[in-house]
Amino acid sequence: MALAFIIITKNNGAGAAQNDVVLPVETGTAQPQNNANARFLDPDDVHPGFLRRQLPADAPSRPELDAFGAALRDVRDLILPGLTHWQSPRHLAHFPASSSTVAALGEALTAGINVVPFTWTASPAATELEMVVVDWLGKALHLPETLLFCSGGGGTLLGTTCEAILCALVAARDSKLADIGGSRRIGDLVVYCSDQTHFAFRKAAHIAGIHRDNCREIATSRDDMFALSPAALRAAMRADADAGLVPLFLCARRWAPPRPPPWTPSASSAPSRQRTARGVNAHKWLLANTDCCALWVRAPALLVAALGTEQEYILRGAAAEEHGGDVVAYKDWSVTLTRRFRALKLWLVLRCYGIEGLRGHVRAHVRMAASFESMVEADARFEVTATRRFALVCFRLLPPEGKLEAANELNRRLLEEVNAAGSGPYMSSAMVGGVYMLRCAVGSTLTEERHVSEAWNVVQDRAASLLRKMENTSSTAACTA
Ligand SMILES: Cc1ncc(COP(=O)(O)O)c(C=O)c1O
Repeated sequence: MALAFIIITKNNGAGAAQNDVVLPVETGTAQPQNNANARFLDPDDVHPGFLRRQLPADAPSRPELDAFGAALRDVRDLILPGLTHWQSPRHLAHFPASSSTVAALGEALTAGINVVPFTWTASPAATELEMVVVDWLGKALHLPETLLFCSGGGGTLLGTTCEAILCALVAARDSKLADIGGSRRIGDLVVYCSDQTHFAFRKAAHIAGIHRDNCREIATSRDDMFALSPAALRAAMRADADAGLVPLFLCARRWAPPRPPPWTPSASSAPSRQRTARGVNAHKWLLANTDCCALWVRAPALLVAALGTEQEYILRGAAAEEHGGDVVAYKDWSVTLTRRFRALKLWLVLRCYGIEGLRGHVRAHVRMAASFESMVEADARFEVTATRRFALVCFRLLPPEGKLEAANELNRRLLEEVNAAGSGPYMSSAMVGGVYMLRCAVGSTLTEERHVSEAWNVVQDRAASLLRKMENTSSTAACTA
């Protein structure tokens, strides 16, 4: 376990926990094996099938001699070299897989305790800790009180946003169908999102039985910074209602105001305020290792009505019989019966960092992204392609004059070149409105200002070399002509 902690975690000090148990790693004394300088994948070594070819096709029928030691050596020699280093300070791709020593220890504790809190009776303290922690986090995020247990709503900790969206959508679906005449009308239900909404929503809608052509993607534009237009949404809903269809659900991504607290909840909400749900991925930016997604709902009864399995009387304890509605059975709030005791990890993070510590952590990343954005803006060969919010910078290299049509290909090659540097940085891309752009998402626990400026140096260097190559090719073509 110690090996894993050394490899995967070290705190950058922003809001570091003052906890003796975790100090040696949190303060970052040079750890010989921390991954601050981890190399990214070498495409010459790591290609599909590379690991499967090196491992036996069958599990050993008996324990090997020194099995655990041998397996750990394989982790070091075969597995780690074949991983993308999400915990590297130079991992600026996708979104962060947030981590902290505290949460890793919380995970270890959870694994050791290994309870299954599907009902209150099955693990009373785990159930109640989850209720406490979602209320703590909800208050810290300044969510409406109606979403908290203390005011009649409530929350749960699921694995991912995909699950959270699905659960909220299924609850909204069943509630609406009950209002309009039952499941035979499922084909009339329509859901809404923008053309920038994560595919998770369309997937959830499909699983929930919403017809594929009843998922409206409201077009956004660069002029509006890809925001969902309320007028366009209203028009789409009106047209659907006029056609006899039934607007059901809007998946909106809300950006929290810059302060307080500057976190980025992705939220899904039904058009009716009574049926609002909110979700926040704590494993993205809040130092709670994967997986940990909080879902809050204003009307838990709707979730339970859709996902409850009360005929499973065998799972109901005397406490539930006695206290009825006061007892939360989290199995009725999600897809699965078996579920993890995630609250312990999040509770430890909140206690060891405090809300201010987490704000400091997030703000440090936002500052670094702002400084990356300033560097992009200061170089006339580049443009920032979408207004930065928080810690994501989208940008692209502008092609030489007269070669606008080459812009996407140029940027595709730029990303390849940037990511080919084994020592990082590692970035990802997006295609928005036909424009290919690079994404620099700051959020790794270990990332510091210097990693961001070094990343920019690599981008500039690779861009200069690509532009030179383009120029040379053009002049050779001109001479030949
Ligand atoms: C806006 C948004 N929604 C949903 C998701 C899916 O999250 P998860 O992987 O937790 O299901 C992501 C993941 O990056 C996201 O960025």
